[in-house]
Amino acid sequence: MFRIQLLVSVLLCCFTFWFHISFGYLITCSGIVPMRYRNDKVSITDFGGVGDGKTLNTKAFREAIYRIQHLRRRGGTLLYVPPGVYLTESFNLTSHMTLYLARGAVIKATQDTWTWPLVAPLPSYGRGRERPGGRYMSFIHGDGLRDVVITGENGTIDGQGGIWWNMWRQGNLQFTRPNLVEFMNSRGIIISNVIFKNSPFWNIHPVYCSNVVIRYVTILAPTDSPNTDGIDPDSSSNVCIEDSFISTGDDLVAVKSGWDEYGIAYGRPSSHITIRRVTGSSPFAGIAVGSETSGGVEHVLAENIVIYNSGIGVNIKTNIGRGGFIKNITVSQVFMENVRTGIKITGDTGDHPDNQFNPNALPYVKGVTLKNIWGVKVQKAGSIQGLKNAPFTNICLSKINLHGMTGPRSPPWKCSDVSGAAIEEPPTCSSTLPLLSSLLW
Ligand SMILES: *[C@@H]1O[C@H](CO)[C@@H](O)[C@H](O)[C@H]1NC(C)=O
Ligand SMILES: *[C@@H]1O[C@H](CO)[C@@H](O)[C@H](O)[C@H]1NC(C)=O
Repeated sequence: MFRIQLLVSVLLCCFTFWFHISFGYLITCSGIVPMRYRNDKVSITDFGGVGDGKTLNTKAFREAIYRIQHLRRRGGTLLYVPPGVYLTESFNLTSHMTLYLARGAVIKATQDTWTWPLVAPLPSYGRGRERPGGRYMSFIHGDGLRDVVITGENGTIDGQGGIWWNMWRQGNLQFTRPNLVEFMNSRGIIISNVIFKNSPFWNIHPVYCSNVVIRYVTILAPTDSPNTDGIDPDSSSNVCIEDSFISTGDDLVAVKSGWDEYGIAYGRPSSHITIRRVTGSSPFAGIAVGSETSGGVEHVLAENIVIYNSGIGVNIKTNIGRGGFIKNITVSQVFMENVRTGIKITGDTGDHPDNQFNPNALPYVKGVTLKNIWGVKVQKAGSIQGLKNAPFTNICLSKINLHGMTGPRSPPWKCSDVSGAAIEEPPTCSSTLPLLSSLLW
């Protein structure tokens, strides 16, 4: 009986796989949020904006957006940022607008960290991610919005994060560092054809959002810049990320949903997250789920991913006290080169917000399918370590070919408290996951 169930679940994951393989290259995010053409256009220069890299343009941005918000032109308004370097403090976007960066336009964050506004902590985190209490507002911020586009001709949003990274290194940060772009409680968001550079903290953070498209973006930060995650969909649904290059100091894409008792109480999952045709390098993970997953994460598909010079290729991470669930995750068509660990799924990653977490709140991890993963120069192939009192189930590995540093031989796997199946040779994780062929015959 158990075998038959197992067989059925393994075969099911094969079928979803075939569907994605056949159409993976054709599917795009386009349908999720319609692209808007805006008849009404204004330029930041109409509001006194000066792109000389020295003038502070905070007033210009805030006034332009105030006007867009209050004039409420039919079909929304486009705010044009011409070539030039526009220094500004953080600002809020409004609904029904497009922020358009021309080729050669740079919106640059001030270095005046002491005037940076604070916002309340996210309820699903209970505090700032790195310091207790509130957190610095993201450089470009949106709360409760709909129909917002950030696009253009590959202009740059530059967080000038160096000063923040140094505060973190020196241990004198008072509050959690700002994200570069954050949307909260928003829907119908498109971010495309923009370069994001040197974020103080996470780069793009959609939280409590739905219908978000991020495509044709480039995200850059030095390898040693702390916590500069590329894109972190957090307690959000219908998020589609594609055709992007990301090279930062932390995870390239990390799907999250809140932190321990706060995330469990808030109870907002991340679901229907698609990541495709993303390339990049990270000292941590290429594609990550977690470690903050207390609201649950389900229906994640990552495919056609290239990861090089990185710490971990694919990393699913949770913790005791985190609760929540991680279900129905598919990662397929991944090529990795020169990574320390190819695949890592663990139940003991990440710190706690405080000592109030419930040690009996165990995460539930079920239904992770990893297929067609090819790697060269991989130091450690994989490690899948579930929890004794909450083993990971329905873990399906198929066509995983990870070659060592010196040749085609796969380095060893480490697996415990995990069940599921491995389809096809080589027998990855063979101590715990039976080969499908041995189930069949
Ligand atoms: C921007 O939004 C934040 C959070 O929603 C709010 O606290 C702040 O007052 C807003 N700032 C401006 C200048 O409107
Ligand atoms: C902007 O960059 C993207 C991604 O690299 C690229 O596909 C696109 O053609 C570029 N667009 C322009 C207008 O240069």
